[in-house]
Amino acid sequence: MNLLRRTAFPLLLLVLHAFCSAAQTKVTIPIETAQNALVLQTDQDKHLSIIYFGKKLAQASEYDLVSAQSRQRDGNAGIYNSAYTPAGSWSISEPALQVTHADGNKSTDLVYVNHQTTREGDNVVVTSIQLKDPAYAVEVTLFYKTYSRENVVEQWSLIKSAEKGEITLNKYASANLYFPGKDFYLTHYNGTWAREMNPEEEQLTAGIRVLDSKLGTRANLFQPPSFQLSFDNPATETEGKVLLGTLAWSGNFRMDFEVDSYHNLRLIAGINNYASEYPLGPGKDFKTPSFIYTFSENGKGEASRNLHNWARKYRILDGEGSRLTLLNNWEATYFDFNEEKLSGLFKDGKKLGVDLFLLDDGWFANKYPRNDDRAGLGDWQENVKKLPHGIGYLVKEAKNAGIKFGIWVEPEMVNPKSELYEKHPDWVIRQPQRPEHYMRNQLPLDLSNPEVQNFVFGILDKLFTENPDIAYIKWDCNAITFNAHSAYLEKNKQKQSQLYVDYVRGLYKVLEKLRAKYPKVPMMLCSGGGGRVDYEALKYFTEFWPSDNTDPLERVFMQWEYSYFFPALTQSAHVTDWGKQPLKFRTDVAMMGKLGYDIVVSHLNEKDLQFSQQSVATYNAIKDVVWHGDLYRLIDPKKNDFASLLFATKNKDRAIVLSYLVSNRNGAGSDMAVRLQGLDAGKKYKVKELNLYPDSKSPVREDQVYSGDFLMTAGFNPVVNARRASVILEILEIK
Ligand code: DGJ
Repeated sequence: MNLLRRTAFPLLLLVLHAFCSAAQTKVTIPIETAQNALVLQTDQDKHLSIIYFGKKLAQASEYDLVSAQSRQRDGNAGIYNSAYTPAGSWSISEPALQVTHADGNKSTDLVYVNHQTTREGDNVVVTSIQLKDPAYAVEVTLFYKTYSRENVVEQWSLIKSAEKGEITLNKYASANLYFPGKDFYLTHYNGTWAREMNPEEEQLTAGIRVLDSKLGTRANLFQPPSFQLSFDNPATETEGKVLLGTLAWSGNFRMDFEVDSYHNLRLIAGINNYASEYPLGPGKDFKTPSFIYTFSENGKGEASRNLHNWARKYRILDGEGSRLTLLNNWEATYFDFNEEKLSGLFKDGKKLGVDLFLLDDGWFANKYPRNDDRAGLGDWQENVKKLPHGIGYLVKEAKNAGIKFGIWVEPEMVNPKSELYEKHPDWVIRQPQRPEHYMRNQLPLDLSNPEVQNFVFGILDKLFTENPDIAYIKWDCNAITFNAHSAYLEKNKQKQSQLYVDYVRGLYKVLEKLRAKYPKVPMMLCSGGGGRVDYEALKYFTEFWPSDNTDPLERVFMQWEYSYFFPALTQSAHVTDWGKQPLKFRTDVAMMGKLGYDIVVSHLNEKDLQFSQQSVATYNAIKDVVWHGDLYRLIDPKKNDFASLLFATKNKDRAIVLSYLVSNRNGAGSDMAVRLQGLDAGKKYKVKELNLYPDSKSPVREDQVYSGDFLMTAGFNPVVNARRASVILEILEIK
């Protein structure tokens, strides 16, 4: 009522008019989390619009008042703010749904039928809203799954057809949102192989800004399906309205950001409809992937902590569990190894103190041995020259050395130089009448084909059945899809335009079956680096490989950007020989994620070995805080000489602060104290430097007691500089 009292008289009349005339037919549906609300409402024609997005109002009854104040009350209601914009009827905006009906008609309308809410425990509510086309037997159910405490919304659609003939879905978005605001700033990411996650922030102006990919087997090579969106002003870590959004789909995606004539923002996100008209037979339905987002009025830090909490609890396989540290042989040996060499590496892994040894590419194929990346992919029998006693022997040898054993596979792919290709050319994605086009000398197998799905499942199943002690899988996928064409779809008289979607669905079927039989084995999701980093794949994987670029300086930036969307325990970070930084720096950077090694341990000098052993032990002592704690990004390396970030336990009794120098200009370093976050102002803490290189001394006084208030207000200087390029601090409560 306050709002009404403050409102000018003419507007008041208008409000009441709008309210009264539509009173009989209007349905208001608030989708709420602890802090936020998305409110949908029908108009007199039963069209469903978004009337509110943002901080939740104290009184839900007042959402009704919002739409009446909107500039769209002038008769344009729904033109822009439709909750799921249909094409070809009354709307002329970019559609969420575009259908060609069985009779060839291309128009669709959607009106509200009913809705229901289902509670799943004390924190999760699913609201489903049924819409239908009044003229054609097509229905859409919009799903909004809210995770209240985490302020996360997962949104998807289910499109059903009861038409007598086949219809075609020309566009079929997961989510259609509408954000009121003054200005919008979109942070999206660009990159390519080994250069993932370069952020760019731009103010959105009139027109449509599209983020998309058309890669087939993966979502990302040049642009990932994740973004940040600031409202009114660019948000900081601690201030401003910001939405973090990501599409849970491991294939082609498309997100349309459209600033409309009222300067509000429309967002339509989902599978890319590029070359992907999807046929839907009578009685069939199409479930879109989930678009996942969180909104905060308190900056990016809170938003990403919300997303991490959600992801660990509800999404990532074993998200609240533990992870294995490992030694990988990829950069240590590439394809050049044998049993003896590997046995030596097992012992090295043990000496280092890691949990597991990971055997990478090159262990398989005989007719065309996998001695480089030009041959053998697809022939998953142990190479008898390198491994005459098979994988079983290696697993045993590793066990004898006191270390677990994991193995690399790339089961979706084939080299033309392979027995698999010779035997099953029809399993390969290629245009029969065109020259083949390769990425890394290989082609994807056609996962729309159930036989291929069984083959891929069989590779893993055989490994596990024959070697039940295999403790880890690295699943790689190095090629994108050129020449998209499926012999299977052709043979079965299905549409080629299904291929991009059916490939990804085929992949998920395999992963589903695999997880039904092997629910726990940790698996790393790799796609020539970060090609597949999304929340659908992470239902099946415990972690991902952010990039083949392991130069620690680059990794500081990349891991920083990934951290907006994905918690640290999912980011595999290995110490390698990339870059010019000293071992201490490389190790400290890897501790920002899930620590692993890909070095020749026997090449380490005595001090480096001693330091590395100590690092693994240090990591084991802090990993619980890094993996399960709250992340605060304190000093942004993009704007400063150094980066600083902090992980704090939920009860604020312990925090780990990691700082990295990223510039060497003009005596770069931390001149000032860094204001910490995530502590308890009333608690007392001591500060201790961890992971010092042997014989070096820390300037940090361990006996000094600080209040949380001091550390968060005056701050603490980690003393990062050219002589101390990386610093890890532990902040421990004194009880
Ligand atoms: C690409 C991956 O990103 C690397 O880590 C390594 O596994 C190679 N493939 C092996 O071929």
